[in-house]
Amino acid sequence: MTTLTVDLGERSYPIYIKNSLLGQTELLKQHIAGNSALIVTNETVAPLYLEKTQSMLSGLKHQAVILPDGEKYKNLEVLNQIYDGLLRNRFDRNTTVIALGGGVIGDMAGFAAASYQRGVHLIQIPTTLLSQVDSSVGGKTGVNHALGKNMIGAFYQPKAVIADTDTLDTLPDRELSAGIAEIIKYGLICNAEFFSWLEQNMPALLKRDKKALSYAIEVSCQTKAEVVAADERESGKRALLNLGHTFGHAIENGMGYGEWLHGEAVGAGMCMAAVMSNQMGWLSDKETQQTIQLIEQAKLPSKAPESMSAEQFLDLMSVDKKVLDGVLRLILMKGIGKSLVTSDFTLDNLNNAIIQSAAA
Ligand code: NAD
Ligand code: GLY
Repeated sequence: MTTLTVDLGERSYPIYIKNSLLGQTELLKQHIAGNSALIVTNETVAPLYLEKTQSMLSGLKHQAVILPDGEKYKNLEVLNQIYDGLLRNRFDRNTTVIALGGGVIGDMAGFAAASYQRGVHLIQIPTTLLSQVDSSVGGKTGVNHALGKNMIGAFYQPKAVIADTDTLDTLPDRELSAGIAEIIKYGLICNAEFFSWLEQNMPALLKRDKKALSYAIEVSCQTKAEVVAADERESGKRALLNLGHTFGHAIENGMGYGEWLHGEAVGAGMCMAAVMSNQMGWLSDKETQQTIQLIEQAKLPSKAPESMSAEQFLDLMSVDKKVLDGVLRLILMKGIGKSLVTSDFTLDNLNNAIIQSAAA
C-alpha cells in the first residue's frame, strides 16, 4: 500500500492508496475517534459500495444519508439533508462524517462536517478518479451558489483519505477522462517530466491499466500534499492548483451545473489558459499545441463552448475566489511545468483568448 502524508503539524493525515481497501476494517476504525459515524453517499454509489463501508463500522453506532446524484444538487438546500441525518440520529460532537463518493459528495460531506456543531471529524473515501487525485485531499469543502461555483464553503481537513483503486472499475469512461484532466493539471503547473510521462502513457490510462493509474494517482496526490502543506489556505502557491479553473467554473455555471463535468470544464479551461499564455508570448506554439493535444488525447473538450459569449465568460469570471480587491488573477503558463498566478494582463488579452479558444 502507498501511504502519503499531508504534513500539517498536529492536523497531519495519511492518504492510503491501494486496491481492496474497502473492507479493511482496522484501516478505517483507527481514524474514528468516538463511537459513531454518519456515511454520506449518493444514490449511484450507495448500491455499489455502501454495504462494504458499513461492514467496516461494526460495533459502532452508524447511519447513512443517501443524496441525489449530481453537481446540480451540490447546494445549500440538499446539504440540509446531511444536517437532518446528523440531528435525527442525535449524533454528537465526537461523531465522524464519512464521505463515500466523488468530489460532489466529498465537498458536501466535508462542509457538513466543518459546520455541524462547529466541527466534527471527517474521513474521505473517494470513489472517482477526480476525487482520488484531487478533491479528497487538501480540505476544500463547500457547495455551489446559483451565481457562482463553490462560493460557500470552508477549509476543513479530514483525518484520513482512503482511496481504494478498485472502485475505479465501475466508473464510466466519461468520468475517468474528467479525472485525467486534474492529473494533467499537475504536469502543467509544476512537473514537465510527469507531463511527458502522460504523453507516453495516456493510452494505458484510458485502458485503465492498473499500474499506470496507480502511478498517476500517487504522483498527483504527492504533488497536492506538498502544495497544501506549504500553503493550506491559498495565500500563495496553492492558487496554482486552479489552472484552468476560472475559465472552467464559468463554463460549469454558464452551461448549467452538471451539463459539462467539472473535469471537462477544467480541460477546456486549461487549453484556454494555454492559448492566452501563448498570445501573451509566454508559452511557445509547440507547448500550446502539446497542451491541447494531451487534453484531446484524454478525450476531453479543448475548446470553449460555442454557446457561451465572451461577455458571458467575463461576467462569470468576475465572480471568482481569485478576485482580490476587485482584480481578477489567473493562473497562466510560462512553459510546461512552469505556471504562475498573475493579474499582469489586459481585458483585451482575456477577451481575445476567449474568442480564439472558441474558434481554435
Ligand atoms: P461527482 O462527485 O459528481 O462524481 C461523478 C459521477 O460518478 C457521479 O455520477 C457519481 O455518482 C459517480 N460515481 C462516483 N463514484 C463512482 C464509482 N466508483 N463507480 C461508478 N460511478 C461513480 O464528480 P467528481 O468528478 O468526482 O467531482 C467533481 C466535484 O469535485 C465538483 O463539484 C468540483 O467542484 C469538486 N472538486 C473539489 C475539489 C476540492 O479540492 N475540494 C477539487 C476538484 C474538484
Ligand atoms: N483543487 C484546488 C485546490 O484544492 O486547491
